[in-house]
Amino acid sequence: MTTVTALAAAKLNLYLGVGPPRSDGYHELNTVFTTVSLHDEVRAQAAPALTLQLTGRYAAGLPADDTNLAARAAALLARAAGIAPRVTLTVNKQIPLAAGLAGGSADAAATLLACDELWQLRTPREELLTLAAQLGSDVPFCLHGGVAVGTGRGEALRAVPGPRPFHWVLLPSPDQLTTPAVYGELDRLRVLGGAAAPDVTSGGSSLAAVCDAVAVGDPDRLAAVLRNELAVAALSLQPQLAQTLDAGRAAGALAGAVCGSGPTCAFLAADAWHAAHLAHALVSNDPGWPAPIVVTSGGHGASLVGILS
Ligand code: C5P
Repeated sequence: MTTVTALAAAKLNLYLGVGPPRSDGYHELNTVFTTVSLHDEVRAQAAPALTLQLTGRYAAGLPADDTNLAARAAALLARAAGIAPRVTLTVNKQIPLAAGLAGGSADAAATLLACDELWQLRTPREELLTLAAQLGSDVPFCLHGGVAVGTGRGEALRAVPGPRPFHWVLLPSPDQLTTPAVYGELDRLRVLGGAAAPDVTSGGSSLAAVCDAVAVGDPDRLAAVLRNELAVAALSLQPQLAQTLDAGRAAGALAGAVCGSGPTCAFLAADAWHAAHLAHALVSNDPGWPAPIVVTSGGHGASLVGILS
């Protein structure tokens, strides 16, 4: 029986500019995404009907029914192809949940690839990206991978090539934040004057500075221009994140940032050695850190890694 395995890469935002809410409830974004080498694994196996199994460190707490984004991705691809979704999906969850790392979106992107291969559909990449956008704002980028500028609600992508990956240490939180709650908090703070208005240079100089740093692969330049306009809202909902950011800086990070809508914090290192050293310093300074610390680096998006027939 054929089994297809795909990796589902988590994402960080190197720059996240958030416009006012649109009439459809989404916010217009100017963002620079990067996928990193922190993966879930999605296995797709031929089966009489669509079923989902969850394994791995973060399996508990996720729905294993048809509301799960991986199951929705398989159902959508099958519907688009006019076939029945005959697959058992096994998702090995290693990306923290509701953490600002797009773990669910990553699973959906990897599921599209795995099922496309399992069902021998050969769906053109542009069509897969269109289906991905129907599943969620971050799913197209999780399929695209690498470093890319995202506009619209995040689904319109332009690749930003660079010579080398950046190195990161991620400090996941024991707590979760839901994306709508964080966007809602940003809107509330902006109305109250407690958060900066949208960066008028979004799409202009700040985003351009991040793209320039990526294009030359310079972590010091990147450290100086990392920006996340959702961070103020994540910090408002979880004030203890300020201590997390301080801990990373005290341990010698080049810069720290809240990942997307949080609460995971990402710390930029100069190179792989510095990232390992940084992680070691974080563990030594706070041996009781309540969630596993992740050492990672920029990598590709969702990708097939095995076909066993
Ligand atoms: O697209 P997705 O379903 O992942 O978005 C989840 C939620 O995040 C949306 O319902 C919305 O509240 C918020 N969101 C937003 N603007 C975006 C992306 C997401 O307000 N560009």
